[in-house]
Amino acid sequence: MTTTLITGGNKGLGFETARRLIAAGHSVYIGSRDPERGRRAADQLGARLVTLDVTDEESVAAAAKNIEADGGLDVLVNNAGIEGRTPDGRVVDAAATTADLMRTLFETNAVGLVRVTHAFLPLLQHSPAPVVVNVSSGLASLSHVTTPGTPTYAFPGIAYPASKAAVNMITVQYAKAFPAMRINAVEPGYTATDLNHHTGTQTVAEGAQIIVRMAQVGADGPTGGYFGADGPLPW
Ligand SMILES: NC(=O)c1ccc[n+]([C@@H]2O[C@H](COP(=O)([O-])OP(=O)(O)OC[C@H]3O[C@@H](n4cnc5c(N)ncnc54)[C@H](OP(=O)(O)O)[C@@H]3O)[C@@H](O)[C@H]2O)c1
Repeated sequence: MTTTLITGGNKGLGFETARRLIAAGHSVYIGSRDPERGRRAADQLGARLVTLDVTDEESVAAAAKNIEADGGLDVLVNNAGIEGRTPDGRVVDAAATTADLMRTLFETNAVGLVRVTHAFLPLLQHSPAPVVVNVSSGLASLSHVTTPGTPTYAFPGIAYPASKAAVNMITVQYAKAFPAMRINAVEPGYTATDLNHHTGTQTVAEGAQIIVRMAQVGADGPTGGYFGADGPLPW
């Protein structure tokens, strides 16, 4: 059984992933940027808790130190993410996309993912079977976004798909750099969570499926790939 850290584990897909991995017998830390929300979720789950804001160097370093002192890490699920909708839940379209929105989304979804991965790499390298799961999005697929008639083609936003396309690139480059690790990007599918004001059409149980599967991938499993519940996705 492995020790797993799930960033943004206090709700949504991260919470459901934690629940499933704990049920399968794994030891799970949830990362939460808010200690109170984190404590409530961890108590509910029977998970361990680290306070971790992916945009904050100090909190990430402190979380890595705590987990190292507690015995290390086998699996990192980079799940924390934001979509940056308007307060009334609309996707910010191309005309309304600003540099500030781009910066905010990249800071959490892409830069934050690298900050956390960089901090936990030394711990993962001590694991006999290290795994990283980067929670990307189907909206990151350049193939789908350029295929008329698909929901991905119809999505009008820029910042979120661009930040997740960066996640895919980061995944591939890490996977090549660390061939002993299994490092994959996953697309949960359109899932009803706070992120999209619960407009998603899947349940969190459905959405978490591929995250849970890739978090438990064996040493012979794929690396450097991009997967949805039904299999590999085109970049
Ligand atoms: N829902 C979908 O349809 C869908 C589809 C494809 C991909 N995804 C991806 O799935 C992941 C989980 O999203 P979700 O749908 O479960 O959304 P969610 O319910 O809004 O959960 C997002 C989680 O990320 C955390 N978070 C946000 N910014 C953070 C930061 N700076 N530091 C640490 N944690 C932070 C949130 O914490 P707070 O509670 O403190 O805000 C929350 O725990 C995201 O990466 C998202 O892009 C979702």
